[in-house]
Amino acid sequence: MGNLADKKILIGITGGIAAYKICELIRMFKRNGADVTVIPTENALNFVTKLTLQTLSQNNVYVNEFEIPDYKPEHIALSDSADIMVIAPATANTISKLANGICDNLLTSVACAFKKPVFIAPAMNTNMWDNPIIKENISKLKSLGYNIIEPESGFLACGTEGNGRLCELSKIYDAAEKELTQKKKLAGKKVLITSGGTIEEIDCVRYISNYSSGKMGYALANEAYESGAKVSLVTTKVVTDNRFNIINVKSAEDMLNAVKNNLEYQDIVFMAAAVADFKVKNQQTQKIKKSEKTDELTLTLVKNPDILKTICEIKKEKNLKTKIIGFCAESENLLNNAKEKISKKGCDYLIANDISRADIGFGSDDNEVTILYKNGTAETLEKASKSVIAKEIIGRITKDE
Ligand code: CTP
Repeated sequence: MGNLADKKILIGITGGIAAYKICELIRMFKRNGADVTVIPTENALNFVTKLTLQTLSQNNVYVNEFEIPDYKPEHIALSDSADIMVIAPATANTISKLANGICDNLLTSVACAFKKPVFIAPAMNTNMWDNPIIKENISKLKSLGYNIIEPESGFLACGTEGNGRLCELSKIYDAAEKELTQKKKLAGKKVLITSGGTIEEIDCVRYISNYSSGKMGYALANEAYESGAKVSLVTTKVVTDNRFNIINVKSAEDMLNAVKNNLEYQDIVFMAAAVADFKVKNQQTQKIKKSEKTDELTLTLVKNPDILKTICEIKKEKNLKTKIIGFCAESENLLNNAKEKISKKGCDYLIANDISRADIGFGSDDNEVTILYKNGTAETLEKASKSVIAKEIIGRITKDE
């Protein structure tokens, strides 16, 4: 058995002339022990027959989502079962559908429901590949975490020379093999992530909080889990995800206790939560009533504990090996403020966020961050979805492990 034994690969084939080459790709995966299931589009079957694909893959070939042999809808069953999905050749049409969430056949529906890595190998005429609409869709897919294996230049089936030819099959094979066989970066590690804005009660019905959505923390939890870690998510948000140990908290005090209680067991702590700097001094247990005598209500706020600073001090005192990553939300002077913060808090890395921009940060699905390292260097990660940013952050902080 080859090194892909026990690995399940979905191969999506779309309607381009390069479809015939995928027969060889299936053989390469099969030779190395992989379990291959092929999903061609109706148009792909103009270039290669279902019988050929079935014989080479030694599996059923699925084309239509309405032929349901089982109780589970096919697009869900297929997308749950595989480790990776390869779409090759990917036509301009399928690329544009994927980039826009269109699910009008089994292949696009499976790809849309697929939560693990997807590799897309485009192949098309040069003018189509150069079309700005296709370029934009490719860059959208890249920023959402899809792996694009770029086409190559050469003789095209339409009789011209140019860019757009399906890349060498070995490139697709190697990319898939690397993904399937690499050791998971955080295998056996414990990772704790704080997430969401803390809730500081005024009375039993009112509170002070902030706009944090908890999306960045969730993306980190997801990525850490996919990288093999045991994940604890200390969150102020309602999260139902049984992959994580979820610890629900409200206030900064609660969060501090939860983090402190778990700190010694953690290899990595991400402090992604937006902790309120102040809490109400004279918090009321009963609802505060309006008064006939005055139109004003004065709340006195007192400082909350600084969780990040506290755990960095505990780490030092107890000589813990835990890597601590702080976050930093700034509306101006991002880099200067962040540099000051990393030394003040004492964390190993600081991920700085510009919260003055509406297109990233609080509530948004995207982010653009600058990672500050302890040695004073800074690196900006280009704007991308929070899941791509989470992947890059984890990649950077585990580089030397
Ligand atoms: N943080 C914390 N406890 C607090 C405040 C912040 O643990 N009481 C953490 C946050 O989770 C984040 C980092 O400290 O990882 C920086 O948070 P940020 O809000 O940017 O900075 P502050 O320390 O609150 O400073 P300032 O509000 O003055 O910018």
